[in-house]
Amino acid sequence: MIPGNQGERREEVSVREFIGDKIADIKRTVGGEAAISALSGGVDSSVCTVLAHRAIGGRLKVLFIDDGLMREGEPQQVQETFGQLGITVDIVEAQTEFFGALAGKLDPEEKRKAFRQTFYSVFGREVLKSKARFLIQGTIAADIIETKGGVKTQHNILEQIGIDPEKGFGFKVVEPIKELFKPGVRKVAKELGLPESIYRRMPFPGPGLMARVLGEVTPERVAIARKATVVVEQEIRKLEPFQAFAVLLNDMGTGIEEGRRKFGHVIIIRSVESRDAMKARPTPVPWDVLMKMSRRIVKEIPSVTRVAYEITPKPPATIEYI
Ligand code: XMP
Repeated sequence: MIPGNQGERREEVSVREFIGDKIADIKRTVGGEAAISALSGGVDSSVCTVLAHRAIGGRLKVLFIDDGLMREGEPQQVQETFGQLGITVDIVEAQTEFFGALAGKLDPEEKRKAFRQTFYSVFGREVLKSKARFLIQGTIAADIIETKGGVKTQHNILEQIGIDPEKGFGFKVVEPIKELFKPGVRKVAKELGLPESIYRRMPFPGPGLMARVLGEVTPERVAIARKATVVVEQEIRKLEPFQAFAVLLNDMGTGIEEGRRKFGHVIIIRSVESRDAMKARPTPVPWDVLMKMSRRIVKEIPSVTRVAYEITPKPPATIEYI
């Protein structure tokens, strides 16, 4: 598909061919109907949104579901970036619905299933409101392989696991980049003229910070993971890791505050190097960077008493915690 070893020129032509083919496919599939793009701001859904916008222009409605599980300021940043590309993004407020569905759930797969169900019912509603018949989605090859292999339930894999989205939810799913792995998607993003902040963006899971909060996912617990993530992203940026983030554990640990014992949250810093997220190894982060992240996290989030750095490769661990 987008060959990686045939020299720069051949590769460029191939990326361009891929783009042309996909735009034609989307035009053919959607016909004269309207479609909705589920934009998260990550490179996968950004590429799909631009491809679909080029294919059907104003008949594409671009929605960003604000599930309350995004990183700091993300919904507004995405809206602004795409606005600059001439693509209007509508933000759908759905935080209450997502936190309602996740309340009381502790099991990782139950959380994923609740997220997926909520995601599709919010989207299904928006699609019906808009009279669109198609949903454009940024599923990539690794998502399909891992879901089929039973590694986990991705939220965007309905058709591959035999659930018919048209019967269950009333619309058809179009997945223009499902044959590509991450490096291929980044090449397409660059060729499409997306800004560097998008084509080099670290992967961020569809279920967002939910994948980084062990135990119950509440707005308060997500806020802790979000604040810690700001620190990790800022301090580790210069190392340009494949992916780096903070995780909130479900256990607590003892600390000391003004000479008194205090029971507080435990944050894990995870940073990995990988080509396509199928395998990964921990980033060898310099000690001073680790210490700075630890100092900042306990200072900026007083309810945290402990910070640890995770050193497990994938496999046997996965990159995310749930
Ligand atoms: P794991 O944790 O399976 O992650 O090693 C592999 C890559 O996929 C991302 N990831 C997801 N992306 N929906 C997504 O769109 C998901 O449910 C999901 N779970 C994990 C993860 O961040 C990593 O880059």
